[in-house]
Amino acid sequence: MPDIAEDGRTWVLSGPAASYAVHVTEGGELLHLHWGPRITPADAVALAARPLPACRPFESPLDGREEYPVEGGPRFVRPALSLRTGTRRGTEWTYEGHESGDGELRLHFRDGGLAITLHYRMRPSTDVVERWVTLDNHGPAVEVLRADSATWTLPDRDSWRLSRLHGRWGAESRLTRSELTHGEEVIGSRRGHTSHQHLPWVALDSGAGEESGEVYGCALGWSGSWRIAVALLPDARVQITGGAGYDDSGLLLLGPGESYTTPVFAGLWTDGGFGGASRAWHAYQRAYVIPDAGRDRPVLFNSWEATGFDISERQQRALAERAAALGVELFVVDDGWFGARTGDGAGLGDWTPNPDRFPDGLAPLAAHVHALGMQFGIWVEPEMVNPDSDLYRAHPDWVQYQPGRKRTEFRNQLVLNLAREDVRQYLWEQLDGLLSSAPVDYVKWDFNRCFTDAGWPQDPYPQRLWVDHVRGLYALLDRLRAAHPQVAFESCSGGGGRIDLGVLGRTDQVWTSDNTDPLDRLAIQYGFSQIHPARVMAAWVTDSPNAMFNHRTSSLKFRFVSAMAGVLGVGGDLTRWSEEGLAQARDWVALYKQIRPLVQRGDLYRLRPPQGGLSAVQYVLGDETVVLAWLQAQRFGEPAPALRLRGLNPTETYECPETGEVHRGAVLLHHGLRVDLRGDLDAAVVRLKRK
Ligand code: DGJ
Repeated sequence: MPDIAEDGRTWVLSGPAASYAVHVTEGGELLHLHWGPRITPADAVALAARPLPACRPFESPLDGREEYPVEGGPRFVRPALSLRTGTRRGTEWTYEGHESGDGELRLHFRDGGLAITLHYRMRPSTDVVERWVTLDNHGPAVEVLRADSATWTLPDRDSWRLSRLHGRWGAESRLTRSELTHGEEVIGSRRGHTSHQHLPWVALDSGAGEESGEVYGCALGWSGSWRIAVALLPDARVQITGGAGYDDSGLLLLGPGESYTTPVFAGLWTDGGFGGASRAWHAYQRAYVIPDAGRDRPVLFNSWEATGFDISERQQRALAERAAALGVELFVVDDGWFGARTGDGAGLGDWTPNPDRFPDGLAPLAAHVHALGMQFGIWVEPEMVNPDSDLYRAHPDWVQYQPGRKRTEFRNQLVLNLAREDVRQYLWEQLDGLLSSAPVDYVKWDFNRCFTDAGWPQDPYPQRLWVDHVRGLYALLDRLRAAHPQVAFESCSGGGGRIDLGVLGRTDQVWTSDNTDPLDRLAIQYGFSQIHPARVMAAWVTDSPNAMFNHRTSSLKFRFVSAMAGVLGVGGDLTRWSEEGLAQARDWVALYKQIRPLVQRGDLYRLRPPQGGLSAVQYVLGDETVVLAWLQAQRFGEPAPALRLRGLNPTETYECPETGEVHRGAVLLHHGLRVDLRGDLDAAVVRLKRK
């Protein structure tokens, strides 16, 4: 519950280690006071008493100090809120009061008929502050040009470093760190989905290491276009502003009586370094974002790399039999089972089984898979349509389009306009019918192209499509989950194109990347782990050489140990694996099941980054720990260093159940664990249990 100071205008939200404090001045300005280690309300009042800088004609005393800078008045920073009412732009708000309850603080402001509420929530046992804003319009129509979820303000430090996750298709979530210089760094997506190019997350530090030092992190829960701007202001203050939409050219038109709620922008402070920040984010997501995160995800098989579009019931049955023999628990039929979908040129939109491939529908295959002791899953891409489909022929106006303009048909497909009620209703009926027609346990929900010609000719304010598409997607997922609670969902967008706290609130795992090369994956997984837990990070073992990406040849061991760092899956053509390979795979799957609780629910320690030689991660849960180590290439005269473990008790001893070797905790922590890795692309799994 937020604490309120005696002055009645200063609030402090506190978690186990962190506090966040804001203050409304006598003049009604909402100022940021503190984000960092725990403080008391009295400390916050003392901070509030510090005078603002003097007012000078070329500087604003408010800049860099406000919680949520609105447009207008003596402000020169990027506005978080930009509105237009008739011909008037900007906001002049007055403070109306506060409310608190259910762990949430609400600060109410008003500008004419528009009520603006800033929401703050610190979830129990976490140091994550969730922030969002609601606009309730009781006056004439207001055009919301921009409504960010929050502006975060950092304390004064000598310098700041910005971490971000950039990438592209097949090479997502690459971590980069660079010094922040005066001006702005802007990341985001203007593609209509979260994007492969940036994850909506930043971290700021002023000299942290992997296991120590202050780290501030911010992550947005939104699966459409978005923007996070990090500004180093002239007086060296840093502000981070983020929300839905990339440009400021208009988000929504709020008619009288209408409301808008921004997505949540979550912030975390820790002094536990980058590793501590990741563990705090992971714990928060497992506790408050990911549905049913206490339940471990099954080992899956996915048919995509094995069979592509060329699928049949007989061939899928054969794959299922081999997968079951490996110990796979969930069998997923990927693209190609529906409509006229024999390639990427047709069928999207027609969500009924292809009669030549599945003459009796999916139920017989689902029954066979269940009889083999596995769950049954299918692939869908509901937001898309091929022009060559019955759906498009019946409803050509259901797609996003700009009349009289050329349109982009990436992968021969168009984006359906989910802002339309009739489109959402159609998809609901199709998907609800599909999930009722066969015992489906799992849906891989794909999204394989960006928005390009995002028009909506019949609507008076077509711009809203960008936001309403995402809200439509969320509503559809929520409705399907409520109607089919036994079905788990995977978020996929050509791999990792839609991974964020918004979609993770309604899906059970994500497809991390289409790139299944086990070495490339180490870098992708390293970046992914900065913010998201292994519990949602799907990773498949596929064939070698890796035909889809870089043709690299790697051992089954290396491929398995790479994929075992997340939710293990198998995606190779098992009908072509040797008996020896299948036997080895069975052993790896069995080992994964033993370490799965640690990987999926444990604390992650990144022991060494995947740069060049030896890299490793460690998971700790209760009395057990497991180390996954990978050697990229060994050079003579450069022995692999010992891995200094983390999260152990120095006074305890730990035993490896496979070898019986016993290690002292203090030795593992200080001198490290020696792992015998040789040659190129070698890997190892070392389990240790407290004696
Ligand atoms: C892109 C996904 O990332 C792949 O795994 C696969 O599902 C294809 N789409 C199918 O078209």
